[in-house]
Amino acid sequence: MDFLEIMRQRKSCRSYQSGKEIPREELLKIVEAGRLSPSGCNSQPWRFIVVDTPEAKEKLCDAIVMPNGSTGAPWRHNVSAFIVFVECKAKVMQSVLDRYQDSQRFAQGDIGAACMNMCHEAFSLGLATCMIGMNDQKKMEEYFGIPQGHEVRLVLAVGYSAETPGPVNKVRKSLEEVCSFNQW
Ligand SMILES: Cc1cc2nc3c(=O)[nH]c(=O)nc-3n(C[C@H](O)[C@H](O)[C@H](O)COP(=O)(O)O)c2cc1C
Repeated sequence: MDFLEIMRQRKSCRSYQSGKEIPREELLKIVEAGRLSPSGCNSQPWRFIVVDTPEAKEKLCDAIVMPNGSTGAPWRHNVSAFIVFVECKAKVMQSVLDRYQDSQRFAQGDIGAACMNMCHEAFSLGLATCMIGMNDQKKMEEYFGIPQGHEVRLVLAVGYSAETPGPVNKVRKSLEEVCSFNQW
């Protein structure tokens, strides 16, 4: 499939078939797409934690509920596997530190790129995904042994869609609204 067509067809999935496991080889292919992703100074400031056992998934489902009970993923229970994106300290060039005094300047963008590549690899394997932006950092640390100071930036749900197939309606700003040539 033409790459732009993949972009048009991929969509976030919020309804999953229950009781379906994703073979680990497929999960590793998805993670490989993240591992191969570009990053500022090639610092690869990430760790990907794949959560695929029933016990670990139960904990993950709890860790994406905020202390006030809200969640970005009320649909989370039938998801086959989750991938947790943890930001790690980036080793960047001295010139970047001189300019921004911040080794993590590019890290969130890097993680976003890795996650997007994983979404597209999952799509090419016939799997559905949805990014989940919010989590309870304390629970993440407790349940998954994440060292303090390592922020969980994203969680990716991966599974088998239970949505009715049909045309994908991409709700996006127009090209004219988001793009101009040579000036703002
Ligand atoms: C950083 C980020 C966080 C997101 N968090 C959530 C979330 O918590 N729950 C959810 O259902 N969708 C979440 N999404 C999915 C977006 O709502 C979705 O990508 C957007 O509406 C565009 O739709 P599409 O992915 O189907 O093209 C998130 C997306 C991103 C990039």
